[in-house]
Amino acid sequence: MPADDKNKVTILRLRRHKRENTKTVLTTAYDYPQARIADGAGVDCILVGDSLGMTTLGYKTTIPVSMDQMISSCEAVSKGAKNAFLIGDMPYMSYQISNEEAVHNAGRFVRAGMDCVKVEGAMTERIRAIADAGIMVMSHLGLTPHTRAKLGGYRVQGKTAKQAEIILQQALELQEAGCSFLLLEGMPRESADMIASELNIPVYGIGAGDKVDGQLVIFHDLMGLFWEFKSKFVKRYCEAGQMMQSALTKYAEEVRSGEFPSEENFYAIKEEELEKLLGGGNWKHDEVVYETDQGFPTNHSATPETTTVKKK
Ligand code: KIV
Repeated sequence: MPADDKNKVTILRLRRHKRENTKTVLTTAYDYPQARIADGAGVDCILVGDSLGMTTLGYKTTIPVSMDQMISSCEAVSKGAKNAFLIGDMPYMSYQISNEEAVHNAGRFVRAGMDCVKVEGAMTERIRAIADAGIMVMSHLGLTPHTRAKLGGYRVQGKTAKQAEIILQQALELQEAGCSFLLLEGMPRESADMIASELNIPVYGIGAGDKVDGQLVIFHDLMGLFWEFKSKFVKRYCEAGQMMQSALTKYAEEVRSGEFPSEENFYAIKEEELEKLLGGGNWKHDEVVYETDQGFPTNHSATPETTTVKKK
């Protein structure tokens, strides 16, 4: 068995964070470069969220996202992230129908390199079935986008003592059913705090105040790559979208003005070949050497194979 890297974030480290009151850092990633950036920055957990639908695929909601889209994204993220604990978000209707389908689909996430799956709502039986199959599950309560119509829209949850108490009871049942983590979305900090302190498992928040065990902010929100709306709880740490657009504007200007490409971007040609190229056509009667891969070796360190051909 290959040994796990000692820097790999595991459930043991995440539980220790909770015991020692160390805040856990979570963000999302949907592809290889984002995973490398997040992992390189040392975030503890990466969620491959079905927010992919809105941040990357241009849907209005997360509802149209399919299992295949999620799996392809998880495969890319798991290649880019060496150390972070990886959570795959089960998309709409991938876990609701039956325990069998939920376990089958959770298994696909594990095969795609995820350490854990995330399921929305108080799906106690599904959580128990997935956990019994040996797969870690994060439950997602509060504002749950899959059931937003039932909630009357994207509305803050747990705003009354009664609502907060109901969410706490659901959370305790999910913990008992075997869920390993809880994520609370869109709740007042006091309600989230009360729930986090009643639970033994780590409780993270997205828009749930500062008292929970860790914070999740969506990659595109904190980087300035999502423009449709900005939730109250989001803090932008850079304007990557603007930076990228300025870079592309400059590129377009330089191509149009002829400033790019320049000497440093050109491939060299040997002096004698240049003379032949520029000095009449006599060389065409010589033996010429063709690079069989047409001069574009796939591996830059490789020498292309050559064939000698007598020209007519
Ligand atoms: O898909 C996602 O990124 C999520 C977060 C909003 C919690 O589920």
